Amino acid sequence: MTATVTSTSAQPALAAITFPDDFIWGAATASYQIEGAAREDGRGPSIWDTFSRTPGRVYNGHTGDVACDHYHRYVDDVALMSDLGLASYRFSVAWPRIQPDGTGPVNVKGLDFYDRLTDELLGKGIDPVVTLYHWDLPQTLEDLGGWANRLTAEAFGEYAQIVHARLGDRVKTWTTLNEPWCSAYLGYGSGVHAPGKQDPAAVFAAVHHLLLGHGLAARALREAGAQSISITLNPNVALPVDPTSAADQEAVRIIDGLSNRMFLDPLFKGQYPADMLEHMARFTDLSYIADGDLATIKAPIDVLGINFYQPAYVSAKPGAPAALDQPGSEGIAWRAPDGPVTDMNWLIEPSALTGLLKRINDDYPGIPLLITENGAAYPEGPSADGEVHDSRRVEYLDGHLRACHDALAAGVDLRGYFVWSLMDNFEWAEGYRKRFGVVHVDYATQQRTLKDSAKWYREVIRRNGIAA
Ligand code: NOJ
Repeated sequence: MTATVTSTSAQPALAAITFPDDFIWGAATASYQIEGAAREDGRGPSIWDTFSRTPGRVYNGHTGDVACDHYHRYVDDVALMSDLGLASYRFSVAWPRIQPDGTGPVNVKGLDFYDRLTDELLGKGIDPVVTLYHWDLPQTLEDLGGWANRLTAEAFGEYAQIVHARLGDRVKTWTTLNEPWCSAYLGYGSGVHAPGKQDPAAVFAAVHHLLLGHGLAARALREAGAQSISITLNPNVALPVDPTSAADQEAVRIIDGLSNRMFLDPLFKGQYPADMLEHMARFTDLSYIADGDLATIKAPIDVLGINFYQPAYVSAKPGAPAALDQPGSEGIAWRAPDGPVTDMNWLIEPSALTGLLKRINDDYPGIPLLITENGAAYPEGPSADGEVHDSRRVEYLDGHLRACHDALAAGVDLRGYFVWSLMDNFEWAEGYRKRFGVVHVDYATQQRTLKDSAKWYREVIRRNGIAA
């Protein structure tokens, strides 16, 4: 694949860019964030139902009970996708709709929903990309220890098989897990996400069982004949505050290890990094790593999904306490963003995405990459003219698409880009107050309105690039 610059202007930053002919343009969502219908058609409770009902955990007590009501409005939502010209749509399957208790009986009505959605997409020429786990773990499994318990990994392998048996004749691209770092470190470390625990030993057991669950699911999908198998990670682009400082470089090594190599090395090299084994041994006896697990985790995959939003600048700071979501990170400080930020207070630095893609390409060669999420939260809603003028989101997306293009030009095998998100939705602990959609959702009426960014993205897709 070659990326070409089709024209240049006096300001290089505004040059038109064109993507490879087969570049995939998509948008992404996740089940708990958009579906609603939390108690319908036999869906069991998930950890996010429990967590969002626990006072003080989610902004203003928001829950996913109704969300964007996508469960009932999926036909209209697919029509919107078609209007945008999306080639592909990344959605997740809610495990508790399929197996309300995480193991055991299959709830056919749950499968029926994803069957209808898949057919609706294909009928409009949109390729479905299915994520099997985007954080809504059946509560029954959490009651048994959740991802800290090996049982969950084994159950996940079976669940993958069940979903594939129903959709596999039409769905080509399968993603096992979305952002296992968040499931482990935010779920069991800082407790900012469900299930809201704070237990470093559980963090590392969860990392391992998430990876093992991925491997078991990948094997089941492969045996069932799945065409394309992937996992989506959210690498933490840790950069040194002072690149000339050895101590800052050491801080980067630790954060990169905990966030990135901890997942990438087992997936692609079949081993945990030696420094991370030592790191984990401070908190656990590693007895949860059984013979053969790493070979299972190394199951070949076809694509690696990357979610990227912002880089993080770290430095050595003797005496600094460890961050709860980075067990063992004492002596490391995070610099507050010192440049433009989004409504999440996340630093905007598109070149960090280029650097990340090149780094993965260099250190884990041979795996095609897909941006499975990138986007920005901004609050704009309809103005007096009825339109949503979210120019800052357009600027953010423009910058990051250019960063992708730079990576392509540098030889990275990047296959596509999915904007996060198709529409405003339940932003986890932030509830509905943070809006990532290119489509605005009025939660009182469920009315959808294309933001300027959606119209801009439609034009990007139409041109297969950005105009000068
Ligand atoms: C990553 C997650 O996969 C998604 O669910 C979330 O909404 C976005 N990041 C934005 O925080």
